[in-house]
Amino acid sequence: MIETAVVGASGYSGAELVGLLATHPRAALRMVAGAASAGRRWEDLYPARAHLFRGEIQAFEAASLEGLDAVFLALPHGESASAAAELEGRVGRIIDLSGDLRLPDRHVYERWYGRDHPAPQLLGRAVYGLPELFGGDLEGAEIVACAGCYPTAVQLAAAPALGLPGAPSHVVASALSGTSGAGRKADLSLSFSEVFGNARPYRVGSHQHTPEMAMGLERHAGRGVQVTFVPHLIPIERGILATIVLTFDAAPDPAAVLDRYRRAYADAPFVRVLADRLPSVRAVAGTNVCEIAPVVDGGSLVVVAAIDNLLKGAAGQAVQAFNRSFGLPEAMGLPGGEGA
Ligand SMILES: NC(=O)c1ccc[n+]([C@@H]2O[C@H](COP(=O)([O-])OP(=O)(O)OC[C@H]3O[C@@H](n4cnc5c(N)ncnc54)[C@H](OP(=O)(O)O)[C@@H]3O)[C@@H](O)[C@H]2O)c1
Repeated sequence: MIETAVVGASGYSGAELVGLLATHPRAALRMVAGAASAGRRWEDLYPARAHLFRGEIQAFEAASLEGLDAVFLALPHGESASAAAELEGRVGRIIDLSGDLRLPDRHVYERWYGRDHPAPQLLGRAVYGLPELFGGDLEGAEIVACAGCYPTAVQLAAAPALGLPGAPSHVVASALSGTSGAGRKADLSLSFSEVFGNARPYRVGSHQHTPEMAMGLERHAGRGVQVTFVPHLIPIERGILATIVLTFDAAPDPAAVLDRYRRAYADAPFVRVLADRLPSVRAVAGTNVCEIAPVVDGGSLVVVAAIDNLLKGAAGQAVQAFNRSFGLPEAMGLPGGEGA
Protein backbone atom coordinates (compact mmCIF):
# COMPACT_ATOMS: atom_id res chain seq x y z
CA MET A 1 0.00 0.00 0.00
CA ILE A 2 1.04 3.60 -0.58
CA GLU A 3 1.31 5.35 2.79
CA THR A 4 -0.31 8.77 2.79
CA ALA A 5 -1.28 11.71 5.02
CA VAL A 6 -3.56 14.71 4.62
CA VAL A 7 -2.50 18.06 6.07
CA GLY A 8 -5.49 20.38 6.32
CA ALA A 9 -7.85 17.45 6.94
CA SER A 10 -10.36 19.60 8.84
CA GLY A 11 -10.93 21.85 5.81
CA TYR A 12 -13.36 21.25 2.98
CA SER A 13 -10.87 19.97 0.41
CA GLY A 14 -8.92 18.06 3.05
CA ALA A 15 -12.07 16.32 4.27
CA GLU A 16 -12.83 15.18 0.72
CA LEU A 17 -9.27 13.87 0.46
CA VAL A 18 -9.68 11.92 3.69
CA GLY A 19 -12.78 10.22 2.30
CA LEU A 20 -11.13 9.43 -1.02
CA LEU A 21 -7.88 8.12 0.45
CA ALA A 22 -9.59 6.10 3.16
CA THR A 23 -11.43 4.15 0.47
CA HIS A 24 -8.70 4.12 -2.21
CA PRO A 25 -7.68 0.55 -3.10
CA ARG A 26 -3.93 1.30 -3.09
CA ALA A 27 -3.61 4.05 -0.45
CA ALA A 28 -3.36 3.74 3.30
CA LEU A 29 -4.20 6.95 5.18
CA ARG A 30 -1.73 7.07 8.09
CA MET A 31 -2.26 10.55 9.48
CA VAL A 32 -4.59 13.55 9.32
CA ALA A 33 -3.20 16.90 10.43
CA GLY A 34 -4.39 20.46 10.93
CA ALA A 35 -3.82 23.55 13.03
CA ALA A 36 -6.70 24.87 15.19
CA SER A 37 -8.47 21.50 14.98
CA ALA A 38 -5.47 19.54 16.29
CA GLY A 39 -6.54 17.27 19.13
CA ARG A 40 -10.09 16.89 17.85
CA ARG A 41 -11.48 13.72 16.32
CA TRP A 42 -11.92 14.00 12.56
CA GLU A 43 -15.22 12.09 12.68
CA ASP A 44 -16.62 14.64 15.16
CA LEU A 45 -16.07 17.37 12.56
CA TYR A 46 -17.51 15.23 9.75
CA PRO A 47 -19.91 12.78 11.43
CA ALA A 48 -21.65 12.00 8.15
CA ARG A 49 -18.36 10.47 7.00
CA ALA A 50 -17.45 8.65 10.20
CA HIS A 51 -17.95 5.36 8.35
CA LEU A 52 -15.05 6.32 6.07
CA PHE A 53 -12.42 7.36 8.59
CA ARG A 54 -11.92 7.84 12.31
CA GLY A 55 -8.88 9.36 13.95
CA GLU A 56 -7.45 12.24 15.91
CA ILE A 57 -6.24 15.29 14.02
CA GLN A 58 -2.57 15.90 14.74
CA ALA A 59 -0.74 19.23 14.79
CA PHE A 60 1.29 19.48 11.61
CA GLU A 61 4.96 18.61 12.15
CA ALA A 62 7.05 17.65 9.15
CA ALA A 63 9.16 15.23 11.22
CA SER A 64 6.13 13.15 12.14
CA LEU A 65 5.35 12.55 8.44
CA GLU A 66 8.89 11.45 7.60
CA GLY A 67 9.06 8.37 5.37
CA LEU A 68 5.49 8.52 4.07
CA ASP A 69 5.07 7.86 0.37
CA ALA A 70 2.76 10.80 -0.34
CA VAL A 71 1.56 13.81 1.64
CA PHE A 72 -1.39 15.87 0.45
CA LEU A 73 -1.41 19.55 1.42
CA ALA A 74 -4.86 21.13 1.59
CA LEU A 75 -3.70 24.35 3.26
CA PRO A 76 -4.27 28.03 2.59
CA HIS A 77 -1.85 29.55 0.14
CA GLY A 78 1.23 30.82 1.90
CA GLU A 79 1.01 28.04 4.52
CA SER A 80 1.18 25.36 1.85
CA ALA A 81 4.52 26.20 0.24
CA SER A 82 6.09 26.59 3.71
CA ALA A 83 4.86 23.11 4.62
CA ALA A 84 6.09 21.74 1.29
CA ALA A 85 9.55 23.19 1.93
CA GLU A 86 9.66 21.46 5.32
CA LEU A 87 8.51 18.15 3.85
CA GLU A 88 10.76 18.13 0.81
CA GLY A 89 13.28 15.29 1.00
CA ARG A 90 11.41 13.69 3.92
CA VAL A 91 8.47 12.21 2.02
CA GLY A 92 8.15 10.52 -1.36
CA ARG A 93 5.63 12.83 -3.01
CA ILE A 94 4.06 16.16 -2.13
CA ILE A 95 0.68 16.86 -3.68
CA ASP A 96 -0.30 20.46 -3.09
CA LEU A 97 -3.83 21.75 -3.63
CA SER A 98 -2.96 25.42 -3.09
CA GLY A 99 -1.93 28.02 -5.63
CA ASP A 100 1.55 28.40 -4.12
CA LEU A 101 3.48 26.27 -6.59
CA ARG A 102 1.40 26.59 -9.77
CA LEU A 103 3.00 29.71 -11.22
CA PRO A 104 6.69 29.18 -11.95
CA ASP A 105 7.55 32.90 -11.83
CA ARG A 106 7.65 34.25 -8.26
CA HIS A 107 7.02 37.80 -9.45
CA VAL A 108 3.79 36.74 -11.14
CA TYR A 109 2.80 34.94 -7.91
CA GLU A 110 3.66 37.93 -5.75
CA ARG A 111 1.69 40.30 -7.96
CA TRP A 112 -1.50 38.20 -8.13
CA TYR A 113 -1.42 36.66 -4.64
CA GLY A 114 -0.31 39.92 -3.03
CA ARG A 115 2.37 38.38 -0.83
CA ASP A 116 6.01 37.34 -0.88
CA HIS A 117 6.52 33.79 -2.03
CA PRO A 118 7.21 31.59 1.00
CA ALA A 119 9.40 29.02 -0.78
CA PRO A 120 10.69 30.29 -4.14
CA GLN A 121 13.27 27.51 -4.23
CA LEU A 122 10.43 25.08 -5.03
CA LEU A 123 9.11 27.07 -7.99
CA GLY A 124 9.73 25.47 -11.33
CA ARG A 125 10.21 22.10 -9.67
CA ALA A 126 6.55 21.40 -9.16
CA VAL A 127 4.61 19.71 -11.95
CA TYR A 128 1.30 21.35 -12.81
CA GLY A 129 -1.49 18.90 -12.06
CA LEU A 130 -4.18 19.00 -14.73
CA PRO A 131 -4.16 15.39 -15.97
CA GLU A 132 -6.35 15.86 -19.06
CA LEU A 133 -3.99 18.44 -20.59
CA PHE A 134 -0.61 17.65 -19.05
CA GLY A 135 -1.01 14.11 -17.72
CA GLY A 136 2.30 12.84 -19.09
CA ASP A 137 4.18 15.26 -16.84
CA LEU A 138 2.70 13.61 -13.77
CA GLU A 139 4.36 10.20 -14.21
CA GLY A 140 6.74 9.92 -11.26
CA ALA A 141 6.29 13.59 -10.32
CA GLU A 142 7.62 14.27 -6.81
CA ILE A 143 5.94 17.64 -6.27
CA VAL A 144 2.54 18.26 -7.84
CA ALA A 145 0.84 21.66 -7.89
CA CYS A 146 -2.77 20.70 -8.57
CA ALA A 147 -4.69 23.02 -10.88
CA GLY A 148 -7.12 25.40 -9.20
CA CYS A 149 -10.88 24.97 -9.31
CA TYR A 150 -11.79 27.75 -11.75
CA PRO A 151 -8.69 27.06 -13.90
CA THR A 152 -9.72 23.42 -14.22
CA ALA A 153 -13.17 24.25 -15.58
CA VAL A 154 -11.99 27.09 -17.80
CA GLN A 155 -8.94 25.32 -19.24
CA LEU A 156 -10.80 22.09 -19.98
CA ALA A 157 -13.52 24.13 -21.68
CA ALA A 158 -11.15 26.28 -23.73
CA ALA A 159 -8.18 24.08 -24.62
CA PRO A 160 -9.67 22.14 -27.58
CA ALA A 161 -11.16 25.33 -29.06
CA LEU A 162 -7.78 27.03 -29.26
CA GLY A 163 -6.69 24.40 -31.79
CA LEU A 164 -9.59 25.07 -34.18
CA PRO A 165 -8.77 26.79 -37.48
CA GLY A 166 -8.92 30.56 -37.05
CA ALA A 167 -9.25 30.35 -33.27
CA PRO A 168 -8.70 33.69 -31.55
CA SER A 169 -6.15 34.22 -28.79
CA HIS A 170 -8.62 35.86 -26.43
CA VAL A 171 -10.76 33.75 -24.10
CA VAL A 172 -13.58 35.42 -22.15
CA ALA A 173 -14.54 33.34 -19.14
CA SER A 174 -17.39 33.95 -16.73
CA ALA A 175 -17.91 31.54 -13.86
CA LEU A 176 -20.31 30.90 -10.99
CA SER A 177 -19.10 29.30 -7.77
CA GLY A 178 -20.66 28.11 -4.53
CA THR A 179 -19.42 29.15 -1.10
CA SER A 180 -17.27 26.08 -0.38
CA GLY A 181 -14.85 27.45 -2.97
CA ALA A 182 -13.61 29.85 -0.31
CA GLY A 183 -13.03 27.14 2.26
CA ARG A 184 -14.36 26.54 5.77
CA LYS A 185 -12.85 29.51 7.54
CA ALA A 186 -15.16 32.20 8.96
CA ASP A 187 -15.68 35.18 6.66
CA LEU A 188 -18.47 37.75 7.06
CA SER A 189 -18.94 38.11 3.30
CA LEU A 190 -19.63 34.36 3.14
CA SER A 191 -22.15 34.25 5.98
CA PHE A 192 -25.58 32.85 5.14
CA SER A 193 -27.37 36.21 5.27
CA GLU A 194 -24.83 37.84 2.98
CA VAL A 195 -24.89 35.05 0.39
CA PHE A 196 -28.42 33.65 0.42
CA GLY A 197 -30.68 35.34 -2.11
CA ASN A 198 -27.79 37.16 -3.74
CA ALA A 199 -25.40 36.70 -6.68
CA ARG A 200 -22.36 38.91 -7.08
CA PRO A 201 -19.14 39.18 -9.03
CA TYR A 202 -15.88 39.56 -7.14
CA ARG A 203 -12.21 40.26 -7.88
CA VAL A 204 -13.02 41.23 -11.47
CA GLY A 205 -9.72 41.95 -13.21
CA SER A 206 -7.69 40.80 -10.22
CA HIS A 207 -8.53 37.17 -9.48
CA GLN A 208 -5.39 35.14 -8.77
CA HIS A 209 -6.51 32.30 -11.04
CA THR A 210 -6.31 34.48 -14.17
CA PRO A 211 -2.56 34.08 -14.81
CA GLU A 212 -2.81 30.36 -14.10
CA MET A 213 -5.46 29.95 -16.82
CA ALA A 214 -3.40 31.94 -19.30
CA MET A 215 -0.27 29.95 -18.42
CA GLY A 216 -1.93 26.58 -18.97
CA LEU A 217 -3.75 27.56 -22.13
CA GLU A 218 -0.63 29.15 -23.64
CA ARG A 219 1.36 26.06 -22.89
CA HIS A 220 -1.29 23.80 -24.36
CA ALA A 221 -1.90 25.95 -27.46
CA GLY A 222 1.77 26.79 -28.00
CA ARG A 223 1.02 30.48 -28.49
CA GLY A 224 -0.02 33.58 -26.59
CA VAL A 225 -3.46 33.50 -24.95
CA GLN A 226 -5.22 36.34 -23.17
CA VAL A 227 -7.86 35.52 -20.55
CA THR A 228 -10.59 37.82 -19.27
CA PHE A 229 -12.04 36.22 -16.15
CA VAL A 230 -15.18 37.24 -14.27
CA PRO A 231 -15.93 35.09 -11.18
CA HIS A 232 -19.26 35.22 -9.33
CA LEU A 233 -20.40 33.92 -5.97
CA ILE A 234 -23.84 32.30 -5.97
CA PRO A 235 -25.85 30.81 -3.09
CA ILE A 236 -25.07 27.13 -3.51
CA GLU A 237 -22.73 25.06 -1.35
CA ARG A 238 -20.58 23.41 -3.99
CA GLY A 239 -20.05 23.49 -7.74
CA ILE A 240 -18.64 25.67 -10.49
CA LEU A 241 -20.37 26.51 -13.74
CA ALA A 242 -18.03 28.24 -16.20
CA THR A 243 -18.95 29.73 -19.56
CA ILE A 244 -16.24 30.70 -22.00
CA VAL A 245 -16.66 32.60 -25.23
CA LEU A 246 -14.26 32.75 -28.18
CA THR A 247 -15.08 35.07 -31.07
CA PHE A 248 -14.06 33.82 -34.52
CA ASP A 249 -13.80 35.86 -37.73
CA ALA A 250 -15.69 33.10 -39.58
CA ALA A 251 -18.28 30.91 -37.84
CA PRO A 252 -16.80 27.51 -36.91
CA ASP A 253 -18.55 24.39 -38.16
CA PRO A 254 -20.58 22.90 -35.24
CA ALA A 255 -19.92 19.30 -36.29
CA ALA A 256 -16.16 19.94 -36.54
CA VAL A 257 -16.19 21.62 -33.13
CA LEU A 258 -17.99 18.71 -31.48
CA ASP A 259 -15.67 16.25 -33.17
CA ARG A 260 -12.63 18.15 -31.91
CA TYR A 261 -13.90 18.11 -28.32
CA ARG A 262 -14.77 14.43 -28.48
CA ARG A 263 -11.35 13.53 -29.84
CA ALA A 264 -9.55 15.75 -27.33
CA TYR A 265 -11.15 13.94 -24.42
CA ALA A 266 -11.61 10.46 -25.91
CA ASP A 267 -9.19 8.98 -23.37
CA ALA A 268 -10.11 11.22 -20.43
CA PRO A 269 -12.16 9.16 -17.96
CA PHE A 270 -13.64 12.19 -16.22
CA VAL A 271 -14.58 14.48 -19.10
CA ARG A 272 -18.09 14.16 -20.48
CA VAL A 273 -18.55 16.04 -23.76
CA LEU A 274 -22.24 16.81 -24.20
CA ALA A 275 -24.15 17.39 -27.42
CA ASP A 276 -27.77 16.94 -26.34
CA ARG A 277 -27.95 18.92 -23.11
CA LEU A 278 -26.02 21.56 -21.21
CA PRO A 279 -23.85 20.96 -18.12
CA SER A 280 -25.10 21.72 -14.63
CA VAL A 281 -23.50 21.61 -11.20
CA ARG A 282 -26.04 19.06 -10.00
CA ALA A 283 -25.06 16.70 -12.82
CA VAL A 284 -21.47 16.53 -11.52
CA ALA A 285 -21.93 17.03 -7.75
CA GLY A 286 -20.17 14.36 -5.74
CA THR A 287 -18.13 13.19 -8.74
CA ASN A 288 -14.75 13.92 -10.30
CA VAL A 289 -16.45 14.59 -13.64
CA CYS A 290 -16.17 17.72 -15.77
CA GLU A 291 -19.12 18.14 -18.13
CA ILE A 292 -18.45 20.23 -21.23
CA ALA A 293 -20.81 21.41 -23.96
CA PRO A 294 -19.49 23.41 -26.93
CA VAL A 295 -22.16 25.45 -28.74
CA VAL A 296 -21.64 27.51 -31.90
CA ASP A 297 -23.58 30.77 -31.77
CA GLY A 298 -23.04 32.73 -34.97
CA GLY A 299 -19.36 33.66 -35.11
CA SER A 300 -18.82 32.78 -31.48
CA LEU A 301 -18.05 29.51 -29.79
CA VAL A 302 -19.66 29.28 -26.37
CA VAL A 303 -18.43 26.44 -24.15
CA VAL A 304 -20.10 25.64 -20.85
CA ALA A 305 -18.36 23.48 -18.25
CA ALA A 306 -19.41 22.22 -14.82
CA ILE A 307 -17.34 20.65 -12.04
CA ASP A 308 -17.65 19.89 -8.36
CA ASN A 309 -15.09 22.36 -7.01
CA LEU A 310 -14.17 20.12 -4.07
CA LEU A 311 -13.62 17.02 -6.23
CA LYS A 312 -12.55 17.72 -9.83
CA GLY A 313 -11.58 21.21 -8.66
CA ALA A 314 -9.56 20.04 -5.64
CA ALA A 315 -9.42 16.65 -3.86
CA GLY A 316 -10.48 14.44 -6.79
CA GLN A 317 -8.01 16.14 -9.09
CA ALA A 318 -5.30 15.61 -6.45
CA VAL A 319 -6.05 11.89 -6.22
CA GLN A 320 -6.15 11.69 -10.03
CA ALA A 321 -2.68 13.28 -10.08
CA PHE A 322 -1.55 10.92 -7.29
CA ASN A 323 -2.73 7.97 -9.39
CA ARG A 324 -0.79 9.21 -12.42
CA SER A 325 2.27 9.96 -10.33
CA PHE A 326 2.36 6.39 -8.98
CA GLY A 327 1.51 4.77 -12.30
CA LEU A 328 -1.93 3.63 -11.14
CA PRO A 329 -5.06 3.69 -13.32
CA GLU A 330 -6.11 7.34 -13.50
CA ALA A 331 -9.65 6.78 -12.24
CA MET A 332 -8.74 4.51 -9.32
CA GLY A 333 -10.70 5.33 -6.19
CA LEU A 334 -12.52 8.25 -7.76
CA PRO A 335 -16.26 8.71 -8.27
CA GLY A 336 -17.68 9.16 -11.73
CA GLY A 337 -14.88 7.89 -13.93
CA GLU A 338 -15.63 5.91 -17.04
CA GLY A 339 -16.46 2.40 -15.97
CA ALA A 340 -16.60 3.37 -12.28
N1 LIG B 1 -12.31 24.99 -1.63
C1 LIG B 1 -12.09 24.75 -2.93
O1 LIG B 1 -13.02 24.64 -3.73
C2 LIG B 1 -10.68 24.62 -3.43
C3 LIG B 1 -10.49 24.19 -4.74
C4 LIG B 1 -9.19 24.06 -5.24
C5 LIG B 1 -8.12 24.37 -4.43
N2 LIG B 1 -8.34 24.81 -3.16
C6 LIG B 1 -7.17 25.14 -2.36
O2 LIG B 1 -6.99 24.11 -1.39
C7 LIG B 1 -6.48 24.68 -0.20
C8 LIG B 1 -7.42 24.32 0.94
O3 LIG B 1 -8.67 24.94 0.66
P1 LIG B 1 -9.98 24.66 1.51
O4 LIG B 1 -11.05 25.39 0.82
O5 LIG B 1 -10.13 23.20 1.78
O6 LIG B 1 -9.59 25.42 2.87
P2 LIG B 1 -10.24 25.37 4.31
O7 LIG B 1 -11.56 24.67 4.27
O8 LIG B 1 -10.22 26.76 4.83
O9 LIG B 1 -9.22 24.46 5.15
C9 LIG B 1 -7.92 24.89 5.41
C10 LIG B 1 -7.21 23.82 6.20
O10 LIG B 1 -5.87 24.22 6.42
C11 LIG B 1 -5.54 23.94 7.77
N3 LIG B 1 -4.45 24.84 8.16
C12 LIG B 1 -4.39 26.17 8.06
N4 LIG B 1 -3.18 26.61 8.48
C13 LIG B 1 -2.47 25.51 8.83
C14 LIG B 1 -1.16 25.28 9.33
N5 LIG B 1 -0.32 26.28 9.56
N6 LIG B 1 -0.77 24.01 9.60
C15 LIG B 1 -1.61 22.97 9.40
N7 LIG B 1 -2.87 23.12 8.93
C16 LIG B 1 -3.28 24.37 8.66
C17 LIG B 1 -6.83 24.16 8.52
O11 LIG B 1 -6.72 23.49 9.75
P3 LIG B 1 -7.54 23.91 11.09
O12 LIG B 1 -8.97 23.94 10.71
O13 LIG B 1 -7.20 22.82 11.99
O14 LIG B 1 -7.00 25.25 11.49
C18 LIG B 1 -7.82 23.51 7.56
O15 LIG B 1 -7.80 22.13 7.75
C19 LIG B 1 -6.37 26.19 -0.44
O16 LIG B 1 -5.05 26.52 -0.81
C20 LIG B 1 -7.32 26.42 -1.59
O17 LIG B 1 -6.97 27.54 -2.38
C21 LIG B 1 -9.58 24.92 -2.63
